[in-house]
Amino acid sequence: MSYRLTRTDRIFGEINLPGDKSISHRAVMAGAIANGVTRAENVLDSDDCNYTIGAFRAMGVDIKKEKSFTIINGNGLKGLLKPKGPIFLGNSGTSMRILPGILAGQDFEATLTADTGLSKRPMKRVTEPLSMMGVDIKAEGGEYPPIVIKGGDVRPVDYTMRVPSAQIKSAILFAGLFAAGVTRVRERFKSRDHTERMLRYFGADIKVSGRNVFIKGGRGLKAKDVHVPADISSASFFLAAGAMISGSRVRVNDVGINPTRAGIITVLKKMGSRVRIINRKNVFEPVADIEMRPSELHGIVIDEAMIPSVIDELPIIFVLAAIAKGRTVIRGVNELRVKETDRIVSMTGNLKAMGAEIEPVGDKIIIEGVKRLKGADLKSYDDHRTCMAMAIASLAADQDSSIDDIKCVSKSFPGFFEVLNGLKGK
Ligand code: S3P
Repeated sequence: MSYRLTRTDRIFGEINLPGDKSISHRAVMAGAIANGVTRAENVLDSDDCNYTIGAFRAMGVDIKKEKSFTIINGNGLKGLLKPKGPIFLGNSGTSMRILPGILAGQDFEATLTADTGLSKRPMKRVTEPLSMMGVDIKAEGGEYPPIVIKGGDVRPVDYTMRVPSAQIKSAILFAGLFAAGVTRVRERFKSRDHTERMLRYFGADIKVSGRNVFIKGGRGLKAKDVHVPADISSASFFLAAGAMISGSRVRVNDVGINPTRAGIITVLKKMGSRVRIINRKNVFEPVADIEMRPSELHGIVIDEAMIPSVIDELPIIFVLAAIAKGRTVIRGVNELRVKETDRIVSMTGNLKAMGAEIEPVGDKIIIEGVKRLKGADLKSYDDHRTCMAMAIASLAADQDSSIDDIKCVSKSFPGFFEVLNGLKGK
C-alpha cells in the first residue's frame, strides 16, 4: 500500500532511539556462547536482531526479554545444541554471515536459510575464509544461502580481507575463538570494530594493531552486563533532516559514536553543518548526545578509505549531497550494489525522480546539488535504508511525495515513522 510522505518546514525535538543493530547482534552472540548470564539493555527489537535471537533459542540458549533487558543464559563456547531443523534468518545478512563463525566450533551440522532477498546476496566471502580454517561449509551454487555448516576442529588463519566487511571479519574472529593458536585478520580499510570490542569486553584474548586483528583461541567468554547505545545509522536520518531543513533543531541522546562507524558525523561537519557532540561517555563503546542545527551545506569529496565508516549512511549522504551547494564525489561505492537491494539503482532512481542530478560513474557517484527537490512517487525496493532516506528527502521537497511500501523499515527501525511524525508535529 502506498504511503504519503509529507514535506515540512522544520523538525524539532529531543529523541531517544532504539539500540544499535550491529552491537545488538554481537551482544546476543557473545552472550549466547559465554559462561553465565548476560543482561543486555536496549537490544534492538527489530526483525533482524530477532532472527539472531531465534537462531540461538533454536540451539538451546535460554533468552528472555524483560522490559528493556534481554537476558541471555549462555551455553558456553561449545555448548550450543543441534537445532531440530533448518534455521531461518529472514533478511538478516548480519546473522547469515556471522553465525557461521560460531557454528564453526560446534559439534553438529546446521543449515541456515534465508528469504528471497537475502538468498541473492553473496556468501562466498564468508565460506572461503572459514573453509581455510578447516570448516566444512557450503553455500548454494558456491555463493548463496542456504549455507550448510558442519562444525568441528578449527585451524587458525592469517587472512587478508578482499572486501571491507565487518560481517566477514566478525565471522573469522568468532571462529578464531575455537582455533588452537592465533588467527589474524588484515584489513585494507578498517571496518566497524564492534566485534573486537565486544569480544574483548567478554574476556577474549584479542589484540588490535592498526588494521590487523589477532585473536587467540581456546579461552571461554565471561558473561557481562551490556548497554547497547542508540544506533548511529538510525540517528543519521534525523541528523540529516536537522541539517537540511531550516528552522529545525534536533537532539539525539545516547548514540554510539564509535569512530569506525560514525563517519556520518565527519561528513556532516565537512559539508558545513552545525553538529555538536556532548556528554561523551565510554564503556566498551563510545557514546554521546548529538545536537544538530541547520546550515547551508556544500558538496565534498569522500574517499574510498572512508566508505566502511559510512557504508550504511551512503543513502542519506546522497540525499544531503543532492541539495548541497556544488558537487559531491564519493569514491569506492560498489559494495552498495550487494546490500538489501542495489542501493545505487534504488537511490539514483528515486533521487532523479525528485529532480536530483546524480550519476554513477564506474565505482564513483557524482552528485551536483540542486536548489530544491520535487515531490515524486518513490519506491522502497524493499530496502529499509532506501525507504528511510527517501522519507527524509521528501521532507525537504517542494510538494508531498509517496512511497510504494514502508514495511521494510521493521528490519532495523520499526518505529521510524512514529519518531519522524513526532518531530514534524512540533
Ligand atoms: C554490518 C556490517 C556492514 C553493514 C551492515 C551491518 C555488521 O555490512 O552494511 O548493515 O553489523 O557487521 P558488510 O560487512 O557487508 O560491510
